[in-house]
Amino acid sequence: MSQLRIINANISTPTGTTARKGADMAVLSHIENGGIVIEDGIISFVGPMSDMPEAPAGCEVIDAKGHAVLPGFVDSHTHLIFGGYRPDEFEWRLKGDSYMSIMERGGGIQSTVNATRGETTEALVEKAQWFIDRMSEMGVTTVEAKSGYGLETGTELKMLDAIDTLADRPDQKLRVVSTFLGAHAVPKEYKGRTSEYVDLMIREMIPAAKGKARFFDIFTEKNVFEIEDSRRLLNAAREAGFELKLHADEIVTLGGAELAAEVGAVSADHLLHVSDEGVRRMAERGVVATLLPLTAFALREPFAPARKFIDANAAVALATDLNPGSCFSGSIPLTIALACIYMGMTIEETITALTLNGAAAVGLAAETGSIETGKSGDIVILNFDTYRSLPYYVGMNCVRTVISRGRVVTENK
Ligand code: NIG
Ligand code: FE
Repeated sequence: MSQLRIINANISTPTGTTARKGADMAVLSHIENGGIVIEDGIISFVGPMSDMPEAPAGCEVIDAKGHAVLPGFVDSHTHLIFGGYRPDEFEWRLKGDSYMSIMERGGGIQSTVNATRGETTEALVEKAQWFIDRMSEMGVTTVEAKSGYGLETGTELKMLDAIDTLADRPDQKLRVVSTFLGAHAVPKEYKGRTSEYVDLMIREMIPAAKGKARFFDIFTEKNVFEIEDSRRLLNAAREAGFELKLHADEIVTLGGAELAAEVGAVSADHLLHVSDEGVRRMAERGVVATLLPLTAFALREPFAPARKFIDANAAVALATDLNPGSCFSGSIPLTIALACIYMGMTIEETITALTLNGAAAVGLAAETGSIETGKSGDIVILNFDTYRSLPYYVGMNCVRTVISRGRVVTENK
């Protein structure tokens, strides 16, 4: 049996095996001078040092004296598998072009689709591994990864294969959860024939992806998949056994949040332009609101109304949305800073959103997202003695040690 111990730690964590909602998001439990025992990857003890069981001879011990200890971060929304890059579009946007106008003239997602179709699985895997290694340095111990740059059966399956390969690497630094996003855009071959692409997805792509991803996601947006097409696809995906997610109300108010509640999605994401009714229905139905402040920042859009969600007793998660277009950043430190500075979230709410609620957004709240007995040994040790300093170090990485599934995977010294 392998054992890892963390001693003299200043532990802060949300608790529970489901998302924390509303005012409960601000409640962390704290243990000063605490200890953690992880056996075979699972936390078997957390509590005051005085209650810690005897250490067996020769077990690995990390002395965390003077360091704050938190659960590993969960980045519950990324597009980390992709071919090519789009720096030209970034410059066009700096000069005033909008994200949707670039997409409408054949760039945007379609440009990454062209590049991804030409890549081998191996090349996609190695490129994504680089991003995973950087995420691990920032304390991420679980990441969600989407397909969605194939928009044809073969390339979508190639992307899901790449995600699987990453997830199954024996020394992988973090847990990878996969999402099928064949409904990311209408591919150029089907331009102007959206309903035929929807038919193809229902007839061929959803059955082909069945069992190869946990979640089904869709870009529900004006001039992409509008409400009726989204509803058809989401219902077909649910029948095929997928759990559901939506990119909802990202660019305009369309009713994506309301649809997420109607179909019982696990999460609705983005929500920059969510209606008050959408907030209310998501809260009522228990749909996690996954907010992606880096995207709002990179697109110069208003931030999502985090406070409205929390005040409506909804569960909010925070994630990066790392992708080569709308948001080419996987920065956890900047996500934290933007949430606290611009979205009015408290530090405690931000931590819950990036840990337990992120885990709930990928259906893993019983397994990770908090430091509790029976959960996976996913833990970050910070460079300073209180979690309260996290947003103060704006955009700076203050993670010192990352433990993932009971193994030290990253040390930033
Ligand atoms: O979450 N809006 C749709 N999907 C992504 C962007 C993908 C891309 O631009 O490549 C998003 O913003
Ligand atoms: Fe996204």
